[in-house]
Amino acid sequence: MKFKIAVLPGDGIGPEVIAQAVRVLETIGEKYGHTFEFAEAMVGGQAIDATGTALPPETLALCKKSDAVLLGAVGGPKWDDPKAAVRPEQGLLGLRKGLGLFANLRPVRVLPMLLDSTTIKPEVLKGVDIIVIRELTGGLYFGKPSKRWTTARGRRAVDTLVYSEQEVARIVRVGCELARQRRKKLTSVDKANVLSSSRLWREVAQEVASEYPDVAFENMLVDTCAMQLIRRPASFDVIVTENMFGDILTDEASVLAGSMGMLPSASLGPTTGGQSGTERRFGMYEPIHGSAPGMAGQNKANPLATILSAAMLLRYSCALPAEAAAIERAVEAVVAQGVRTYDIPEPGKPVVSTAAMGDAVIAAIKDSLGS
Ligand code: IPM
Ligand code: MG
Repeated sequence: MKFKIAVLPGDGIGPEVIAQAVRVLETIGEKYGHTFEFAEAMVGGQAIDATGTALPPETLALCKKSDAVLLGAVGGPKWDDPKAAVRPEQGLLGLRKGLGLFANLRPVRVLPMLLDSTTIKPEVLKGVDIIVIRELTGGLYFGKPSKRWTTARGRRAVDTLVYSEQEVARIVRVGCELARQRRKKLTSVDKANVLSSSRLWREVAQEVASEYPDVAFENMLVDTCAMQLIRRPASFDVIVTENMFGDILTDEASVLAGSMGMLPSASLGPTTGGQSGTERRFGMYEPIHGSAPGMAGQNKANPLATILSAAMLLRYSCALPAEAAAIERAVEAVVAQGVRTYDIPEPGKPVVSTAAMGDAVIAAIKDSLGS
């Protein structure tokens, strides 16, 4: 099969980690007989420097005519002036909104061999396998009004948390469907004791969940969820929540996995048809970590989150589950062999570079396919 992939390396360590993910996809292409056509475009600070905007129209157009988007990271101190009118993050938000990517899937798995890399007690982490589904195109990130102004009594600013029942229903449905394929438990997270938008969320979530009697459904307040994620993380299966709660909870959850450098993500739009299990959804795939500007250009960053994002790309946008699993198995194998970047060190083993980690994953894929 042939797939068009838009590649947006972005800023900081973005280009370095993306390069390894592209090499891994090329290896998969060779081994399984698929063609990936990669086309690069600019986004974020890099795009601001070159064109004055964080999301040039050509970039959005390229993404729209591709089967999937692979993105590195955006941002850096150079563009961080709070008064600046253009910001790298606008590129990311513009892509999410412009491509209709309302469902952000953030899996959090703890590899047994990384149990000692985290600050949490190993016994708490055993069996952790969570997917957080973050609503990505609504809520505080996009609600209007969002502005600041000056009054006689000083400066003021407002952001708006708004959700429609359609927006809530479609994301909760993604949660129910996913839970059904897993351990059949769904936790919907809100702040219904305070926020009107959360009370609507809870009502609609309950209605949608009632159509899935085989899925055990619960509501949880976001502050409770923040605590339970650390206290008994293995009790969660699928979590579904609004945009900003999801942003905060997934940074917290990343600590469970030992390093942000291990966590991939998929941002999906509506299904594009096909039979269930073989359907291909347009999506954007990126590591959940940022651009780590201080580490850029040093061939030091962990590329595994981006490589695992490429696996998610194969699973969701190409409907190639076996190929996706081959990447995931290869990643587990190299980590088990003790091949470690700086962020997941193993006592007594040398720390490897970004490119060397890519080499190791490619070798493991070839190994598993007997070539
Ligand atoms: C994320 C990031 C982004 C977000 C930033 C970079 C705008 O933190 O993807 O989690 O807040 O969504
Ligand atoms: Mg975040």
